[in-house]
Amino acid sequence: MKVKIKDKDFDIFLTDKEIETAVSTLAKKINTDYTDKDPLLVAVLNGSFIFCADLIRHLNFDPEISFTKLASYQGSESTGKVNELIGLTEDIKGRHILIVEDIIDTGNTLEKIIKILNEKEVASVEIVSLLFKSEVYKKKTPVRYFGLDIPNKFVIGYGLDYDGRGRSLRHIYQIAEG
Ligand code: XMP
Ligand code: MG
Repeated sequence: MKVKIKDKDFDIFLTDKEIETAVSTLAKKINTDYTDKDPLLVAVLNGSFIFCADLIRHLNFDPEISFTKLASYQGSESTGKVNELIGLTEDIKGRHILIVEDIIDTGNTLEKIIKILNEKEVASVEIVSLLFKSEVYKKKTPVRYFGLDIPNKFVIGYGLDYDGRGRSLRHIYQIAEG
């Protein structure tokens, strides 16, 4: 199966059935580790919205969820670039945080998010990501919960986009060679 989004061709990579299995396996691990912790799920927009929606419906507890986006702006000369989590208005001090991501690539985004969360004196922070490109991941922070370790190729579908399109695709597609 192939799809074309704008100027690029994509081949099927993971079917909706395979995604569903990965989500349910992840949810089982989180159920085991978090039932008694009342975690706050922090889903990183935009890509993670579909994964988050499916994941929470596989959990055996009813979690609080917040949606956030990482924004960077220029601070004063002494502070340089400042990162901020837009939309995270909950008082998160002392909470167990589960960051929900669609995909972890180099880990740059993730590292900034974790730094901001730790400054707010949270009890713990772990990451749950559907996809993980472990061959390009450069950071020390372990990605505790991931669904599938995938090769370093651009993917779309199931929330992931190419130039804003492709998010509604039920399967995940990988950019075609050549
Ligand atoms: P880093 O490198 O900071 O990347 O871990 C994080 C963000 O980059 C986006 N990303 C992708 N988006 N297909 C996408 O649609 C991909 O293959 C891909 N790789 C990285 C994504 O938003 C992720 O949160
Ligand atoms: Mg993302």
